Amino acid sequence: MDTNAAFDALKAHHRDLKGWRVADEFHSGPDRAKRFSASLGDLHFDYSKTVMKDTTLKLLFELADAAGLETKKSALFSGEKVNFTESRAVQHMALRAPQNAQVIVDGEDIVPEIHETLDRMRGFSRAVRDGACQVTGGKITDVVNIGIGGSDLGPAMVCQALTPYHDGPNTHFVSNVDGAQLHGVLQKLDPATTLFIVASKTFTTIETMTNARSARAWMVDALGEGEIGKHFAALSTNLEATREFGIADENTFGFWDWVGGRYSVWSAIGLSVMLAVGDDDFDAFLAGGHMVDQHFQSAPMGENIPVLMALIGIWHRNICEYATHAVLPYDQHLARFPAYLQQLDMESNGKSVNRSSEAVDRETGPIVWGEPGTNGQHAFYQLIHQGTDIIPADFLIAANAHNELGDHQEKLIANAIAQTEALMVGKSEKQARQELITKGMSEADAAKLAPHKTFPGNRPSCTFLYPKLTPRILGMLIALYEHKVFVQGAIWDINSFDQWGVELGKVLANEVLAMIKDGAPTDSKDSSTASLVQKVNELRNTV
Ligand code: F6P
Repeated sequence: MDTNAAFDALKAHHRDLKGWRVADEFHSGPDRAKRFSASLGDLHFDYSKTVMKDTTLKLLFELADAAGLETKKSALFSGEKVNFTESRAVQHMALRAPQNAQVIVDGEDIVPEIHETLDRMRGFSRAVRDGACQVTGGKITDVVNIGIGGSDLGPAMVCQALTPYHDGPNTHFVSNVDGAQLHGVLQKLDPATTLFIVASKTFTTIETMTNARSARAWMVDALGEGEIGKHFAALSTNLEATREFGIADENTFGFWDWVGGRYSVWSAIGLSVMLAVGDDDFDAFLAGGHMVDQHFQSAPMGENIPVLMALIGIWHRNICEYATHAVLPYDQHLARFPAYLQQLDMESNGKSVNRSSEAVDRETGPIVWGEPGTNGQHAFYQLIHQGTDIIPADFLIAANAHNELGDHQEKLIANAIAQTEALMVGKSEKQARQELITKGMSEADAAKLAPHKTFPGNRPSCTFLYPKLTPRILGMLIALYEHKVFVQGAIWDINSFDQWGVELGKVLANEVLAMIKDGAPTDSKDSSTASLVQKVNELRNTV
């Protein structure tokens, strides 16, 4: 069977499911929750509240087979150049492999140099954390990671997620070229005890280099040129550029072109995380990711969590035609997780051309969005429950808080679970009307109000449940979503590892910059762009 036939079979099955309600399935068979869930160690994944049957899964597995998932997976893990538009292997999984593993890229085992870098990071991190690494004002109290995209979202999200483990220097993140962000951070800092980490795979990204130069100027102003060396470190694959910027090799931590930016938190890009939580916790984070790599490689499809996540997503995106996917952590420490997943998923699978350089013939990556759960309940859940669009959602729940406070955690968990139930069960118009009548409303008024109080239900969600958000669990969660994205890209037959879509804006920004900064002529531009530039120039001259 080819993928088109497999998609057609799924479409036909979807038509057969019309009117079928998953909530009823729970009445007829008590074991649905067991059958439609999977576990990896102490992480539990429940997808029983999706509108899917055994046949749905069977057809989705056939689709995965038809798309050659197993072959594509082997190509990924064996170091083939699966990023075919950039002719690069993709091996972020090797970054979390144990020292005795062997991963071959271009005929060479890459594991020894990964562990060499990790050892250097550990040495540096220990010296900073225990004060052996002295700067102008003595011990480093504050670390500022300057980066953007994967060189920011990963470490910033992970540092926030692991706040309870934070016992190192304060960490700050500057990504936006909007000077307000750097200004805001610098105001709080003492240059004499601050370390800047310039994190950039390419070391050419305009936002990062602009922020890094301004940070350098701030430092030179305060301490003089001679002190700069002690206060800057670099994380990059471009060692020529880090040297040119003036960062000493001993403060530079490299990585490799087979690490994509959005997959780089496991590499030297994670240095700010290691400085914050220490190398033992960073190792536990890597171990969590590695555990998922092994599971992804070996578990059969029906038990393979990333494969299930991906296939459920395909069902929702291509068959049910839902355009967005919500990620709803009921875990405040995961507040930045949806933003992190936006880059991971949308930069990877926001593609319209397939491996044969032809237009894809079906929808690819969904719009990913989300916010911590209870806040969302008082903002956008109205639309999730009663809006005209159906939004599949992932709920993330920790059974235990790091700081138990009264009954906060019980209330948090109760809300999360209740939302998944409400989305699935809904409330019929008849039920709503009856409730109103029972409360004393007239039949006529109840009939008018009831439609507004009706919940369609049958709205799909998946739930991740884990004991506590530890470094290992966080590593597992990230790796699960990484492999989910890979599986979906494999089925859509696209390249999940390039990002050409960000290039055009960068080039045009440079042209517009010349018009704003140096007064370059605007006549090559359309009248909207030209007049916006002219108006900006007028406004800037008035202040
Ligand atoms: O512009 C997109 C992007 O290339 C991302 O993929 C990447 O994570 C980000 O920019 C930052 O790139 P760099 O680490 O090279 O500064």
